[in-house]
Amino acid sequence: MTPLQELEQVAARAHEAASQARTVPDIDTVETEYLGRKGLLTGLLRLVGTLPPHEKPLFGQAVNARKDALVAALTEKRTVFAQAEHAARLQADSVDVSLPGAPQTLGKLHPLTQQMAAVKTALMSMGYAFAEYPDVVDYHDNFATLNYPPDHPAFDEQMSFYVDASHLLRTQTTAFQAPVMTAQKPPIRAATVGRCYRYEAVDATHLHTFHQVDLLAVDEGLTLADLKGTFAHFVRLLFGDVEIRFRPDFFPFVEPGVEVAIRFGSRWLELGGAGMVHPNILESMGIDTERYTGFAWGLGVDRITMSQYGIDDIRLLFENDLRFLRQF
Ligand code: FA5
Repeated sequence: MTPLQELEQVAARAHEAASQARTVPDIDTVETEYLGRKGLLTGLLRLVGTLPPHEKPLFGQAVNARKDALVAALTEKRTVFAQAEHAARLQADSVDVSLPGAPQTLGKLHPLTQQMAAVKTALMSMGYAFAEYPDVVDYHDNFATLNYPPDHPAFDEQMSFYVDASHLLRTQTTAFQAPVMTAQKPPIRAATVGRCYRYEAVDATHLHTFHQVDLLAVDEGLTLADLKGTFAHFVRLLFGDVEIRFRPDFFPFVEPGVEVAIRFGSRWLELGGAGMVHPNILESMGIDTERYTGFAWGLGVDRITMSQYGIDDIRLLFENDLRFLRQF
């Protein structure tokens, strides 16, 4: 076989192999096999030495022409494969924007947080200035200023968490009265909502940590009728048209004192205590009791929430069980 015939054969095999290539690595293999430094086509150049001088250039040109043809064929295939691969990748990554969105479960406010916001909105709409006060309070603000004599039985009822000798976690938001009356003079319309703490056995209606909303009004000519009207309006804003009930009760910081309740179906639900601010407190705060009177209340927000949603165990509000919370 002449070198030229051999060249034609090798070139034919190379093109056949190129046409069989199905992937980019296949093309690489053909390239190495025929065009690499030890490739079959490249190797044919070594036959140039065996040829008579006049045939050498012609043969060299023929080999290079076959090599160029093969390079062109492989390059074209490589381009086609690269385009196909790119198209496949685009297809795999594509997003069908016409598909409906996946449903998302958004977070929402805890029922108690919702209730506290509702309480705040209601009282602010009635002209009460709302502020938050620290949970840790001076012993005096929680008890002494509120007219508790040192041996008062309320100390037993409200067993407390003391932080140090003179500070405790407030047992009632009523502790905000002293700071309010220290900071401002009558007329006063103030309210606060927040956590209270009592050393108490936990059951379906009691927690050691719970929430109250307290209100304080001091002005000329306020009477129990104003307290009742204010409470009735507040209740209407929160619960709609429900009956309210005032019954005599005792708290050292009010005189007279009442227990306030609202009717839910056939049941009365006690929300908390209320009354006319005791003159001793007004006097100790430098307020002229000949001129001013005041009323106050403290209600349990957790209990309000329970009645609002028909929750029968207060502990559910603090367990953070999602099956419970998702219902609100
Ligand atoms: C008081 O705390 C008074 N400071 C209320 C007050 C304010 C009266 C101003 C007069 C003038 P009492 O201890 O009854 O009162 O609590 C009021 C409400 O807080 C209760 O009716 C109840 O709804 C809620 N509460 C009290 N203790 C707990 C508890 N352990 N767990 C859940 N809620 C409670």
